[in-house]
Amino acid sequence: MAALLQHPCYEEERLRRVADKLPCREVQAGTLLSVMGGPEQHSFPSIFIYGHRASGKSHVIHMLLRELELPHATVSCVECVSVALLFEQVLLSLFGCDAASLLPRSPSLSDFVRIYRQQCSHSPAVQTRYIVMEKAELLRDMDANLLPALLRLQELVQDNVTVILLSEIVWDKFRPNTGCFEPLQLHFPDYSKGELQQILAQDSHPSYSAELYSSYINILLGVFYSVCRDLRELRHLAALNFSKFCEPLEEGKVKESDTHKLWRNIEPHLKKAMQTVYLREVSSVQWEQLQQMEEKDTGAVRGLSAHAHVELPYYSKFLLIAAYLASYNPARTDKRFFVKHHGKVRKTNFLKKHEKTSNHLLGPKPFPLDRLLAIFYSVVDSRVAPTASIFSQISSLVTLQLLAQVGHDDQIDAPKYKCAVSLDFIRAISRTVNFDIVKYLYDFL
Ligand SMILES: Nc1ncnc2c1ncn2[C@@H]1O[C@H](COP(=O)(O)OP(=O)(O)OP(=O)(O)O)[C@@H](O)[C@H]1O
Ligand SMILES: [Mg+2]
Repeated sequence: MAALLQHPCYEEERLRRVADKLPCREVQAGTLLSVMGGPEQHSFPSIFIYGHRASGKSHVIHMLLRELELPHATVSCVECVSVALLFEQVLLSLFGCDAASLLPRSPSLSDFVRIYRQQCSHSPAVQTRYIVMEKAELLRDMDANLLPALLRLQELVQDNVTVILLSEIVWDKFRPNTGCFEPLQLHFPDYSKGELQQILAQDSHPSYSAELYSSYINILLGVFYSVCRDLRELRHLAALNFSKFCEPLEEGKVKESDTHKLWRNIEPHLKKAMQTVYLREVSSVQWEQLQQMEEKDTGAVRGLSAHAHVELPYYSKFLLIAAYLASYNPARTDKRFFVKHHGKVRKTNFLKKHEKTSNHLLGPKPFPLDRLLAIFYSVVDSRVAPTASIFSQISSLVTLQLLAQVGHDDQIDAPKYKCAVSLDFIRAISRTVNFDIVKYLYDFL
């Protein structure tokens, strides 16, 4: 495999080391290397790399630039909210802080080109300089002339410089209608299940054998692959649940070779974790950074149960519970559940026999805000005044996608919501506030 990464300008040993760090991306790395050429050779003015999230775009580029020790600047278009920051970052990385300080207060593109050329005449490029633009799709929202200029920066500054754009979006959606220089395009396809297995299995745990870890990854992918193919997300899940997987081994109940027993032990946990794949306080990107910082004390990834990890404010929990009840109970039953002295409701009337279909099978129904609040005030014991904070908590729940707002934008005065969480989830939330939700659900009477 490593044979794909070959170039007469680099030692074979070094390229092999690079290839080892780029499993399943040898083809793309090989193409890139041949476009980039040797360090002293002139390279293509701009390269456009696209592929879905976590398809290894940044990983491959940085591994190549770092391991081959090529001069480069990395700019995140998310961080650079203005072109001034972007220019500063590039000059700083390529020429040092003196060059960056030459930029005027709100620099134009021509200021940047002028300073670049000036610096370049002092220190002409011995090796190709690379400028990597992360999340390049954001460049489309910046100055209209910025993207066309970056694509042909090589010509503008007359330097051996290559701009590499990394994006999740295809080039067709970038091309300005006024036309521009066409970059060289390179696609990073999604990883297949087998490739994910191969990459994830590399993270094996120091105190367990590589085979055990590999079979663990196999189980993990068996459960999660249908809902999540994001390498970052999967890696996070793998680390999170590994200690649970090893529990029977540590207790000495099971031998490493008995994968079936291990599978039986971990499967329910993984299924549970599945409900909250994307639901947690730290995103997988942040988690990755934390991991890197904590690399010293390896192994001890704090096991966080997926449910326990959704920390909501006290009243938000009740709001969510009320929303769940409003979504799954028919409105006519509210009186029976939530009015203390509701008078006599004849049981036969209340439980209509022909209503066989479970509301849970039908899915959540939309409800208006006043019904939500009515249920909320009834389930929350202590009296709370309807304050702005209750409303802002509702909108936070919508932002967290625990509630979904339905209906049209023109119904500003009468918004309707749906509860978007599962029964297991709401039961876990209810337990934390000692509320027995099952007693209040019409389906379970
Ligand atoms: N082939 C691979 N081998 C090992 N690790 C990989 C590989 N591809 C990706 N990764 C790891 O997966 C994570 C995500 O990859 P990367 O940041 O390169 O994705 P990306 O394509 O740049 O995604 P985004 O579009 O979100 O920026 C990184 O931690 C990276 O180290
Ligand atoms: Mg990236």
